[in-house]
Amino acid sequence: MMMKKYPNAATIFAGALILGFVLTSGAFAQTMKETVRSISSAGQSKIADFHSYANPHQIVVRHVDLNWNVLFDRKVLEGTATLTVERVAGVSDNAPLMLDTRDLKIEKAEASTDGGKSYKNAEFSVGANDKILGAPLTVQLPPNVNRVRISYATAPTASGLQWLAPEQTAGRKEPFMFSQAQAIHARSFIPVQDSPAVRVTYSARVRTPKNLLAVMSAEGNEQNSRQRDGDYQFKMTRAIPPYLIAIAVGDLQFKSLGARTGVYTEPAMIEKSAFELADTEKMVAATEKLFGAYRWGRYDLLVLPPSFPFGGMENPMLTFATPTILAGDKSLVSLVAHELAHSWSGNLVTNATWRDFWLNEGFTTYLERRIIEAVYGVPRREMEATLGRRGLEEELAEMAMPDQILHVDLKGRDPDEGFTGVPYEKGALFLRHLEETVGREKFDKFVRGYFDAHAFQSITTETFVDYLNVNLLASNQNIARADVEEWIEKSGLPKNAPQPKSDAFVKVETEARNYLSGKAAAKNVRAANWTTQEWLHFLGSLSSDLNAQRMTELDRAFNLTTRGNAEIAFQWLLLSIKNDYSAADARLEEFLTTIGRRKFVKPLFDELVKTPNGRKRANEIYAKARSGYHPITQATVDDILKRGK
Ligand code: BES
Ligand code: ZN
Repeated sequence: MMMKKYPNAATIFAGALILGFVLTSGAFAQTMKETVRSISSAGQSKIADFHSYANPHQIVVRHVDLNWNVLFDRKVLEGTATLTVERVAGVSDNAPLMLDTRDLKIEKAEASTDGGKSYKNAEFSVGANDKILGAPLTVQLPPNVNRVRISYATAPTASGLQWLAPEQTAGRKEPFMFSQAQAIHARSFIPVQDSPAVRVTYSARVRTPKNLLAVMSAEGNEQNSRQRDGDYQFKMTRAIPPYLIAIAVGDLQFKSLGARTGVYTEPAMIEKSAFELADTEKMVAATEKLFGAYRWGRYDLLVLPPSFPFGGMENPMLTFATPTILAGDKSLVSLVAHELAHSWSGNLVTNATWRDFWLNEGFTTYLERRIIEAVYGVPRREMEATLGRRGLEEELAEMAMPDQILHVDLKGRDPDEGFTGVPYEKGALFLRHLEETVGREKFDKFVRGYFDAHAFQSITTETFVDYLNVNLLASNQNIARADVEEWIEKSGLPKNAPQPKSDAFVKVETEARNYLSGKAAAKNVRAANWTTQEWLHFLGSLSSDLNAQRMTELDRAFNLTTRGNAEIAFQWLLLSIKNDYSAADARLEEFLTTIGRRKFVKPLFDELVKTPNGRKRANEIYAKARSGYHPITQATVDDILKRGK
């Protein structure tokens, strides 16, 4: 029997205990059965992933081999997942394998002790379904097992997949399907140990309708795109957490952007996408110069249909992106910088649990700004950092104190609740604070060392703090440990939080003040050469006490209702709801029925339901929009409309 030592999952889980207990939390009245794994290994404090039923401390999955048929008519992925497993040293021979699933139809489980040459049926059972976690799948295995093959099918409502009708695509002729696994949705299309502390390599064979192309977060995309025959193979040879396994199928075309970079999207979007993303190769080079080699081979992007629920998703080798970044002027490419940065912070060094999410997103937002600075200059970086900080402050003003903590407690809650400005912007401000305190040269060296020391590992906040103490604080008297503790473990923004400075924005603020106070008429607002960022700052500085006439004036002067830039349109529509500007009604409906990006959809519905009339409109619009939204966006809006009913 294998008694291998695992560098990641098993180090974390070694000597683990399983404690089952029942817990209730404020947000979720229902009780949740939890599997808590806690350990103390050298230098590491206790860790527990509250969002997985899996038992990698007993049997660990090292590789996932997928064999899928993509069935558009039934909205089903059907096939097998063959898991390469290893029993951890010292673990009882009869410990079963526990996997995460959600709404999967499990047909059969089989086990092999000869590396997959022959299989025997294995007994399995699916536990009760938890609303957040899904259901544990328990498979009984022979002592010297090394492969487990699960035959299964996904549900048409799988939370991690969206099946689009042809009308929801740019080409309007072919259907489309894509996955979104982060945070805990991989389990809705793969029976797997769905914890970011577990790292797997993967391979896949995917059969689709002959005229469509499948792409994955793996090697093989370019090769497959040259031979579109409905039968595609992929491999990811670097160990990744399961939330980074991704697939999309549609009428996709490829266009090269540079030596290592390119874009996949529907033919109707390919030229626009290639134009917008033209700086991608430059960004990769800039990031390497700052933070060390790009370790994933190629970096491609996939531009999805507008129902994609996020701005971007850092699927390795193939970032998934919303088409709402295609502004026509490259002004929204900080999203590319962000997802690219995850190739270091997130994909190379990964949060071990979702309470450590700030390690992924805070570092990435910090890196994103450094990339923007390197490619577009300091003024642009400062504008974006200012927008980030202002957004954070607005959010903090309404956020429960415990949720303002970087190292947030998500026990008993949906990890999506941790998706706020805190891990992103507070995390980035913390790192910028460290940079400003010790100096850039020292800090950059520290960050490079941090990536090298933890490459292809999943780590907790405690591991980061230990590393910080030894490698930065020990040689720098000007940062106190108490300071670090305040940043990571306390609510709010510390007093010493960096304050980004933008001269351009100071001018914008003057214009906004003059307009608000009535000193300047709309046509006198000096906005002639404003960039997207300046417009966003201006609109964000206006308030809810502009009357219809003042909104009309602004609109006449600057054509805001008809703007194609999705970020500007969003800010304007938000302002229009707040100020009862009914001339934007049709545009609002068009926006909400064509774009499913949650960052836009959620605040607009939140704002609408604040008045009885708005709530009525929200319901009317949602009746038309809902079927086009991704399950994640649907769940978010369902919730908003249910509240206060
Ligand atoms: N990894 C996130 C998206 C995510 C986080 C999906 C948590 C599911 C759960 C991605 O890198 C991200 O942060 N996207 C942002 C864009 C970015 C420019 C801030 C988004 O989608 O808005
Ligand atoms: Zn991110």
